[in-house]
Amino acid sequence: MKLITEQTTKIKATLPKRDANKKQEVFYNPMMKSNRNISIVLLNSISNKGMGLALPLAGSGIRGLRFLKELKKGKLDCLYLNDKKENFVENIEENLELNGLFKKNIKISNEDAELFLLNQHCDESCGYMDYIDIDPFGTPNPFISVAVNKIKRNGILAITATDTAALTGTYPKVTKRKYWARSLRNYMMHEIGLRILIRKVQLQGIQFDKAMVPILAYHKDHYFRIYFRSEKGKVKCDELIKHHQYLLFCPQCLNHRVSNYNLGKCDCKFNFDYAGPLWTGKLFDSKLVSKMVKNNKFPEEEKFLNTLKAEAKKDLVGFYDLHVIGKKYKLEPKKMDLMLKKLKGTRTHFSLYGIKTEKSIKEILKIIKNKKK
Ligand SMILES: C[S@@+](CC[C@H](N)C(=O)[O-])C[C@H]1O[C@@H](n2cnc3c(N)ncnc32)[C@H](O)[C@@H]1O
Ligand SMILES: [Zn+2]
Repeated sequence: MKLITEQTTKIKATLPKRDANKKQEVFYNPMMKSNRNISIVLLNSISNKGMGLALPLAGSGIRGLRFLKELKKGKLDCLYLNDKKENFVENIEENLELNGLFKKNIKISNEDAELFLLNQHCDESCGYMDYIDIDPFGTPNPFISVAVNKIKRNGILAITATDTAALTGTYPKVTKRKYWARSLRNYMMHEIGLRILIRKVQLQGIQFDKAMVPILAYHKDHYFRIYFRSEKGKVKCDELIKHHQYLLFCPQCLNHRVSNYNLGKCDCKFNFDYAGPLWTGKLFDSKLVSKMVKNNKFPEEEKFLNTLKAEAKKDLVGFYDLHVIGKKYKLEPKKMDLMLKKLKGTRTHFSLYGIKTEKSIKEILKIIKNKKK
C-alpha cells in the first residue's frame, strides 16, 4: 500500500496498475478526483446545513475524509462510512488517524450497502439521510431503490454510473433490461445515456410520491454523475412524468426533436429513429451551477464548471455537432465561436464541437454554406 495525498487528505491505499479494479486491497481511483472535487463544491454551494451524509460504498474513504476537512463549518452533522470490504473498518480507522481526525460524528460500518441503508436510524431524527452518495463499480442499479427510499425531503442523492456501454446502447438488450429504455449509438449517446439513467432513478421515486429532481447531471471521462434533490408530492411527480418522452433523431439529415411518440417522419421525409423513454427536463439548476463556479477552489475544475454554467443557461434536449455535420454534408466546418454567435447557442460538455441551440438543422446548414463569413 502507498501513502497518497489528494488535496487536503492523506490515505493509505493501493494505486491501480492500469484501470482501478475490485482487486485493489483498498480501493482508490485517482481518476475520480474530479468527481470528488465537484461533490465538495456542490455541498458547499447548497443551502443545506447540519447534514447526515452517507457513503454506503466508501472504498478508501477518501471522499468522506475530504468532506470532513473541506466542507464549510456547520454543513456536516454526522458522517456514515460503509463498505463491505473485509479490511474496511481497520483501514478507515488508520486513515482517520493519519489525518488527525477523530471519530466524533463518524459512524463506520462493514455491511452490504443495501442493508446498511435499510438499517439506518439516525439517532435523533428518523433514519432518513440528507445526502447519500452511490459510487459503485459499474451500475448503481442494486442500490437505487433503497437510496431513493432513504433520502430525506430536500436531501441530495448523488449517483455515479460507470457502466457507460450499457447506457449508451452497445448492447441494446442490456440497456432495455437494466435501464428500461432504448439508447442510440450516435454522437449524442452520452446525453441520451445520462437522461435514460435519470428517468430510471425517477421512476423508483415516483411510485412512492417522491420527486427526484436533477440539479446537476453530467458525463465526464468514463462515468455519468447525477445529483438529485428529493422533493415530495403527487403533483411534482406528475410533472416529472410529463418529461419522460422520446428523442427522435433523423440519421438522414441530422435533425432531432422531443416527442411523446417513438416514431414519426422527419421534414426530409426519412423515418425518425428514436431513443428513450428518457428524461427531457432540465439537467441543471442554473443558479446552483453559477454559485458553484463562484465557490470553486479547484483550478482543474474551472473550465468544466464554466462549460456547465453556460450549458445550464440553454438547458435543451440534444445538440448539434459541427464535425458530424461537416462529415455528413461534406462541408468545411466554420469556427466554433462564429457558429455559437450565429446560432445564439452554447457549448455543451458532451462534445468539443457540440452546440445547444433552438435553431434547426436547415438553419445551421444555411449558415455553414454562406460564403460571406
Ligand atoms: C468505486 S468504489 C468506491 C469509491 C469511493 N466512493 C471513492 O470515492 O473513492 C466501490 C466500493 O464499493 C464497495 N462495494 C461493492 N459492492 C458493495 C456492496 N454491495 N455493499 C457495500 N460495499 C460494496 C467495494 O468494496 C468498493 O470499495
Ligand atoms: Zn431528416
